[in-house]
Amino acid sequence: MSNESNNSKDAKDSKESKESNEKLLKMIKAMLAEKQKEKQNEPKSTDQHKFWKTQPVVRYEDKPVEQGPLKLQTLDEVPKQPQSLPTGFEWCTVDVTDEGHLAELYDLLYANYIEDDDEQFRFKYPAAFLRWALTPPGWNPEFAVGIRATESQKLLAFISGIPANLVVREAEIKAVEINFLCVHKKLRSKRLAPVMIKEVTRRVNLTEVWQALFTAATIIPTPVSTAQYYHRVIDWSKLYEVGFAHLPENSTPEEQIAQVEVKKVALEGFRKLELEDLPQVQKLLSEYLSKFQLYQKFDLDEMKHWFIPASKESPVMSYVVEENGVITDFISCYGLESTVLGNHKHDTIRIAYMFYYATQHEDLKERLTTLYEALLVKVKENNYDVLNALTAMDNPLVFENLNFKPGDGFLNYNLFNWKTPRIDGGIDNSVYEPAPGGLGVVLL
Ligand SMILES: CC(C)(COP(=O)(O)OP(=O)(O)OC[C@H]1O[C@@H](n2cnc3c(N)ncnc32)[C@H](O)[C@@H]1OP(=O)(O)O)[C@@H](O)C(=O)NCCC(=O)NCCS
Repeated sequence: MSNESNNSKDAKDSKESKESNEKLLKMIKAMLAEKQKEKQNEPKSTDQHKFWKTQPVVRYEDKPVEQGPLKLQTLDEVPKQPQSLPTGFEWCTVDVTDEGHLAELYDLLYANYIEDDDEQFRFKYPAAFLRWALTPPGWNPEFAVGIRATESQKLLAFISGIPANLVVREAEIKAVEINFLCVHKKLRSKRLAPVMIKEVTRRVNLTEVWQALFTAATIIPTPVSTAQYYHRVIDWSKLYEVGFAHLPENSTPEEQIAQVEVKKVALEGFRKLELEDLPQVQKLLSEYLSKFQLYQKFDLDEMKHWFIPASKESPVMSYVVEENGVITDFISCYGLESTVLGNHKHDTIRIAYMFYYATQHEDLKERLTTLYEALLVKVKENNYDVLNALTAMDNPLVFENLNFKPGDGFLNYNLFNWKTPRIDGGIDNSVYEPAPGGLGVVLL
């Protein structure tokens, strides 16, 4: 996490202070973007990507002005068999309804999945999370692709796809969302990732689906959008102890703790989302999302899957505001633990991530702030240490008021076999107002 400036309390409300805050924010953003570029060692040309230069993706040098597929294919052009693997390895399909398979996937991801740059934290996906993430309505068991060691049968690599009806600038696309690409640490840099990507593509193409959306921290030709992570610290002391939060030079731990106090809010009609609310919420959400240039369409079954917790272990939390029998607002988040590596006091941090929301209210900034505040209370009650949000959707409208701080993590959104002009991910504008209306999709 990055630190913010300490503004003088007296000047806080003045126009001058607001302007200097905005300038500072702009500077921080520019610095972070620079740092990000250095870290990612962005290649100069698409041709340096040995694998991606062969794929139907937008080249860095091209700036699409129109949209559409990059390559048209027919079913008989799709290979019927997977590419053969080196001796000692074999393809498998991970059965995500099987507890044993889920445990193997958990183990692979637990030890080998995404870490931060300083190798302090690693995502930890429990079985209930994986089941939720990988089995939405219409899911295809074949899209959970693994590689095993032939002799030991140990799971060594994984990639998955789930169906999603995407809307990109009003074009509706039957697509998949690709996620959980992971190669065992001992097999890195052996060009296994491209083999995994080609195999999941082949299996998806066999169902006559030709487009995909995926996110990556690294830059791959060519992100259609980029968003930045912001963090609303809840348990400052714990996050400080694990190295996630920092103590600004002129501040004290007491000041930091006071700054992140979660105050109870009075929001009449705020309650848990129930099954019977879904038709109203679906309408509300689809109307709200339709203003974005990239979003996902949810039918009622999908709404149920993504937003109604299936069990006590379910990671999703969803709330609505009901006014005189009418659902006026909806807000949700999901929770995920990260393993803390090499810390004696804490072994995990509990992170909540903003998911989807929608409101009928027109005073978007004010209303979203109130909804977020009500959600924060629930997030704290559920013992989360921090709430993360990307600069996607209208999230940036609430960041300043609710004490979110910019993080140093960026997320690139890539479309496979679809070109479209770049979409604003909430950081392309130096100051977020009015809302850019770009990214309206959340990938787990
Ligand atoms: C991501 C991961 C699978 C890449 O494996 P690797 O052994 O480092 O890379 P390989 O040698 O097999 O392949 C390299 C190719 O894969 C591409 N690649 C690497 N990560 C990628 C990603 N997240 N998405 C798409 N392509 C990716 C590289 O760009 C490169 O292709 P290029 O030469 O055309 O640029 C591996 O580092 C890993 O498991 N990391 C932890 C989990 C993770 O970060 N997953 C990605 C989630 S977004």
